Amino acid sequence: DSPAKTAEADWFRYQLKHQDSTSSARRGVFTTPHGAVQTPAFMPVGTQGTVKGLEIGMVRQTGAEMILGNTYHLSLRPGDDIVAELGGLHKFMGWDGPILTDSGGFQIFSLAQMRKITEKEAVFQSHIDGRKIHLSPERSIEIQENLGSDIAMVLDHVVELPNEPKVIREAMDRSIRWAERCKVAATRKDQAQFAIVQGGLDEKLRVECAERLAALNFPGYAIGGLSVGEPPPEMYRILDATCPALPTEKPRYLMGVGRPEDLLEGIRRGVDLFDCVMPTRNGRNALAFTDEGTVRLRNAKYQRDPAPLDPKSVPQVAGLSRAYLRHLFMAKEMLGPILLTLHNVAYYQRLMREARQAIEEDRFEAFYEEKMRGWGSST
Ligand code: GUN
Repeated sequence: DSPAKTAEADWFRYQLKHQDSTSSARRGVFTTPHGAVQTPAFMPVGTQGTVKGLEIGMVRQTGAEMILGNTYHLSLRPGDDIVAELGGLHKFMGWDGPILTDSGGFQIFSLAQMRKITEKEAVFQSHIDGRKIHLSPERSIEIQENLGSDIAMVLDHVVELPNEPKVIREAMDRSIRWAERCKVAATRKDQAQFAIVQGGLDEKLRVECAERLAALNFPGYAIGGLSVGEPPPEMYRILDATCPALPTEKPRYLMGVGRPEDLLEGIRRGVDLFDCVMPTRNGRNALAFTDEGTVRLRNAKYQRDPAPLDPKSVPQVAGLSRAYLRHLFMAKEMLGPILLTLHNVAYYQRLMREARQAIEEDRFEAFYEEKMRGWGSST
């Protein structure tokens, strides 16, 4: 084989199948070496090579077509070299569908201790054992190539909000330079890279960042640095400004978002792809999503409730009473978190299927209104 050269994933195509006429919602599809992804889509989070609580057949059962893995976690443990030696992340975890890996940019910001970011790289201490770790754009791509994901994210510089304009601008400029370095570092032709728009809550910076990244011609674009504690309307304002500045013919991925209502708010502004720990983390914590809003199963009012959690849930949950599910959590039985995670991930996937159908039928805004009305009655 010839030595490593920049490889472009020129196979990657996003096909816009239908543009909703009542909103900016888009119905599309993109293909990867491990299959197609119908959009709008939601990726369950599989940070450590597992969608927490679900064996892989359950993940498939929910209808999820693509899952998310993490550079930061898997490079620290078990190590990307070990995953590569064992045949890559798909084989390692038994998932033969598409995988997108995050670059580590957000985890440096949210998990790492004693972090220092220079033009060359991020240096930080592992949250597991305090080991000193160097993560450059080139190393992030090397890790993601070792994992063998279908889509790799560029390494970005995420900052806390609110922050000084100068800090936000510098992190945005650096994120663009790092995106260019990631592109040059690519050696795998079967992996596409998505760039990440940063720029805080400043619409001008967001548009500038989107346009400069669009000029670099990445196969897809993410919107990052959001859902970090800002009020939801601020996030929607940034989406209103950013989505129109991104190329129509490329997929748009809103990272780390969110609640069911945030997904619909994103979709109606033109977002195609999402990931979030919300269905899994909340499921482990006895909080269920339904069309009538969230249900806190630890609540005493469910102690004698014979009603099902959600008659439209998966077969493993649909026949069970709220009283039984509550009992599992009160008794600290592991089946409680498993069943509620399964229900929540399946709920998110059903929401996406319904959204895709509503777009195809040119009635997304009516669908959005109907769902928001139902969620209004959370308990
Ligand atoms: N996950 C959620 N937000 C972000 C972000 O801004 N950057 C990266 N790399 N991952 C994210």
